[in-house]
Amino acid sequence: MRVQVATIGSSPSGLMLGQLLNQAGIDNVILEQRSKAHVLSRIRAGVLEQGTVELLERAGVAGRLHAEGLVHDGFDICVSGTRRRVDLASRGGVVVYGQTEVTRDLMEAREAAGAVTVYEAGEVSLEGFDGDTPSVRYRKDGATHQVRCDFIAGCDGFHGVSRKSVPDAAITSFERVYPFGWLGVLSETPPVSDELIYVHSPRGFALCSMRSPTLSRYYIQCTLAENVNEWPDERFWHELRTRLDPDTAAVLQTGPSIEKSIAPLRSFVAEPMRFGRLFLAGDAAHIVPPTGAKGLNLAASDIHYLSDALIEFHATGRSGALESYSRRALRRVWLAERFSWWMTHLLHHFPDNGPFGMKMQTAELEYLFSSSSAQASLAENYVGLPY
Ligand code: FAD
Ligand code: PHB
Repeated sequence: MRVQVATIGSSPSGLMLGQLLNQAGIDNVILEQRSKAHVLSRIRAGVLEQGTVELLERAGVAGRLHAEGLVHDGFDICVSGTRRRVDLASRGGVVVYGQTEVTRDLMEAREAAGAVTVYEAGEVSLEGFDGDTPSVRYRKDGATHQVRCDFIAGCDGFHGVSRKSVPDAAITSFERVYPFGWLGVLSETPPVSDELIYVHSPRGFALCSMRSPTLSRYYIQCTLAENVNEWPDERFWHELRTRLDPDTAAVLQTGPSIEKSIAPLRSFVAEPMRFGRLFLAGDAAHIVPPTGAKGLNLAASDIHYLSDALIEFHATGRSGALESYSRRALRRVWLAERFSWWMTHLLHHFPDNGPFGMKMQTAELEYLFSSSSAQASLAENYVGLPY
């Protein structure tokens, strides 16, 4: 097979890129190691920045998002049993719409456009991206296939093959692993509140989120040693209630969980994001802890820069935007890393914080709620910094 762009990963970033390239007449293939059903079964992010919404509009896939997405003009932070609101209205708010739904909309548009995705592509390997003739090999149905291309887009997440194909000497990684994870539950119950509630409590962080007026998503901070099988629903709901303020706990509606999983928290950036004719985007290049709801949104902003660069090259033959892709994307990545790291420190219980660290956290929260400038800064970052 010969295409202009070979993309690894039927991920939000890979699918967004594919859709924008299709519209520009740039042929591309997506190679995905899992099945379509598996990709659509993963429950991940839920909050979209305005920039992500605009990118999905440009890609022609925002119809259902506008019909079913929930516009949120604020969220609450609950500290010491008191809920306080952070206003987002003056900055345009955010849209609550699940990553699973974004993925489904993009897959449908890709199928309608007749563009090829190879699911269950095994043993994907990248070759020749440091020269002029890159290619990607994969195994499917007992045979090896080769895709020749002009460019490779590595959109295959943190554990993918793309970043690992780069020689160690060419890449620098920056990492912080946090000493806790999030235990998440999805349940077919009405959300406890119209807006999200981020909770700081002595027993650790909690988050009340949602996917729709009938579907709730809740998280609690847990240790890394936790086993999801030791968290029957009753134990989860009890622990969540103890972290909420009494009024919220009293109106929490519980029900059977339809998904339950533990995610570790990590900050990670690999520099640069371009290696010859290979471009990394999304979690393949960087991870943020989910506290600031930035993971999916950063994948989208990478694709904004990368699609512009590939389309400009295709239309004019000029490679300036391809050459500046890594620098432009990383600038925004580091700002989102800073925000996610800050919000994680603000709201979680850190086992090794010590008395001074705990006083600093209390002072930080005190400052946030006594300063309109501090709240404006939080809101500015939460709705998303400009591209
Ligand atoms: P990914 O979504 O990482 O997808 C990568 C794709 O590549 C996958 O389909 C994978 O199967 C495929 N792939 C991997 N290796 C190969 C290979 N060798 N060959 C072919 N295909 C391959 N963010 C938030 O903002 N809020 C959240 O609540 C939240 N929860 C999360 C929970 C979990 C368990 C995880 C893992 C992430 C979560 N995130 C969350 C982060 C957010 O979902 C990610 O930032 C986002 O999915 C990144 O998208 P992506 O386009 O980089 O690719
Ligand atoms: C979610 O709904 O899954 C969600 C929302 C906000 C976050 C993280 C996760 O900060």
